[in-house]
Amino acid sequence: MRSRTLQNPCRIRISPRFLRSFLTHKRRRRRQAREGSGMWLFKKNGPSGFSSSSTAEQVTSGIDASSLTAIVTGASSGIGAETARVLAVRGVNVVMGVRNMDSGKKVREEIVKQAPSAKVDAMELDLSSLASVRKFASAFNSSGRRLNLLINNAGVMATPFTLSKDKIELQFATNHLGHFLLTNLLLENMKKTAVESKKEGRIVVVASEAHRATYPNGIRFDKINDKSGYSSYLAYGQSKLANILHAKELSRRLKEEGANVTANSLHPGVIATNLFRHMTLISVPVVSGVIEAVGKLAFKNVEQGAATTCYVALHPQVKGISGEYFSDSNLSKPTSFGQDAALGKKLWDFSMELVK
Ligand SMILES: NC(=O)c1ccc[n+]([C@@H]2O[C@H](COP(=O)([O-])OP(=O)(O)OC[C@H]3O[C@@H](n4cnc5c(N)ncnc54)[C@H](OP(=O)(O)O)[C@@H]3O)[C@@H](O)[C@H]2O)c1
Repeated sequence: MRSRTLQNPCRIRISPRFLRSFLTHKRRRRRQAREGSGMWLFKKNGPSGFSSSSTAEQVTSGIDASSLTAIVTGASSGIGAETARVLAVRGVNVVMGVRNMDSGKKVREEIVKQAPSAKVDAMELDLSSLASVRKFASAFNSSGRRLNLLINNAGVMATPFTLSKDKIELQFATNHLGHFLLTNLLLENMKKTAVESKKEGRIVVVASEAHRATYPNGIRFDKINDKSGYSSYLAYGQSKLANILHAKELSRRLKEEGANVTANSLHPGVIATNLFRHMTLISVPVVSGVIEAVGKLAFKNVEQGAATTCYVALHPQVKGISGEYFSDSNLSKPTSFGQDAALGKKLWDFSMELVK
């Protein structure tokens, strides 16, 4: 699936701000390596037996998931395309939720070419439109399909200030709110499927370490759609914090109900994908040359980038684990905002109001 990542990562131009946060990330990874979770260059396995260099195929090796059905959002490129491919290779019946049906069909064809027995379909889904989310969920539920796995993967990063069709800031709308509504609309199906199949349902939310860089109060509830004070990077961090809080609060609710469905979030690593398309440009060849050299050593490829998602979705080690945050196919810890139950509850109520 490398062909679905940026055609020429050398041409990625990085802003000074991103460079600073990348170097901070590298320092954190070095510290984690010393503490045991491991930077992928060192390939040190964590308690799960996997590391940042493990690929999605490796972390799901030997797993037969042929009785399961999954939805993977944003499966038309990058991590989502690789996640869909590996789940399909493990036998999962995969429905790709994509906003661009032509790209989705191309990815589907590639998967089927590599794995002719793969069961993969593409259905149209624009997460920045609540009407599109409702249409997708209604079509899926009324098709009579059961749902075991929901992979909330689609995302945009660092977009210039834009309002969605529903007049909601685009990164919050796409990365969090669309997935929030989608999950709610598919939840009854997932709970029923878990009872009938006697198999744990799993909701996997692809968040990011970028949740560490957010607005001072975490979520700008009172200014969510305000252009004033908008920072494309902090708004991305805010939406990724929302992903973590969503999974945590959802998990709490599912536990309270006694539903056999878990919800977890994760950081996939840093991978050169189309996600970086909105990064601020700096036309300094030396800087981009350095980034390219460092990137080759420190970034993951998509095969590694999809590993944590596939691990959390399929691995037996994750059975019964819910409300947690993963990185490099191991348990990890989000910021204190990411662990703040009251903030999670506030975000839930706020999101419910917005999707009414
Ligand atoms: N790459 C990284 O370093 C990194 C690091 C941390 C977290 N993540 C997270 O990983 C996830 C996947 O990102 P990626 O790196 O694989 O980026 P990517 O290659 O750009 O893939 C993002 C996917 O989301 C889809 N998408 C965007 N807006 C959508 C919308 N309104 N409705 C439906 N689908 C939409 C894109 O569709 P189109 O193909 O039509 O654009 C694409 O399929 C994101 O949630 C991202 O935040 C990535």
